[in-house]
Amino acid sequence: MGNIMLIDNELKAEDFVMLREKAGVLQIPMEQAEKAINNSLFVVSAICEGRTIGMGRLVGDGAMYWYLQEIVVLPEYQGKGIGARIVKKLIRYVEENGIPGTKMTIGLMAAKGKEPFYEKLGFMSVPDDGAGSGMRMYIQS
Ligand SMILES: CC(C)(COP(=O)(O)OP(=O)(O)OC[C@H]1O[C@@H](n2cnc3c(N)ncnc32)[C@H](O)[C@@H]1OP(=O)(O)O)[C@@H](O)C(=O)NCCC(=O)NCCS
Repeated sequence: MGNIMLIDNELKAEDFVMLREKAGVLQIPMEQAEKAINNSLFVVSAICEGRTIGMGRLVGDGAMYWYLQEIVVLPEYQGKGIGARIVKKLIRYVEENGIPGTKMTIGLMAAKGKEPFYEKLGFMSVPDDGAGSGMRMYIQS
């Protein structure tokens, strides 16, 4: 396996769709993928020998709330620390791009069974003493 490089804000919609497919999540139209990438705050791609083998992105208001989305590493590249490198780069981006001296929150919705991966990186599961469960609603436009 060659060197794995992380690059900023260069993820192509085709790779976004492909990686989501490999992660087994809902398929989306290319137009929706393009808009989602363009409206992200920061996008990281993991590249091995010219091929995109992982990704992660930050969405949110860029000041108070930041959310991790689509943290994905291709199955054959998993377990080698690439997912952790992607998440750490996203966390560093928040640390470096928030308004100095302010408190901020990074949230995420872990896929089932992936909670330990995020706990190792410093995230805390909810519900806890102060917070209820994460919640969501699905919309069909
Ligand atoms: C979740 C995912 C991104 C992790 O990426 P990865 O490159 O395999 O993870 P890493 O090798 O960087 O693992 C970092 C640490 O987390 C641990 N870890 C990773 N996945 C884990 C899991 N499912 N359960 C427990 N620990 C896990 C690793 O053992 C490693 O521990 P260590 O630091 O003690 O060695 C990857 O498994 C993936 O893409 N899965 C499919 C898509 C998905 O479900 N994404 C999450 C959406 S919320």
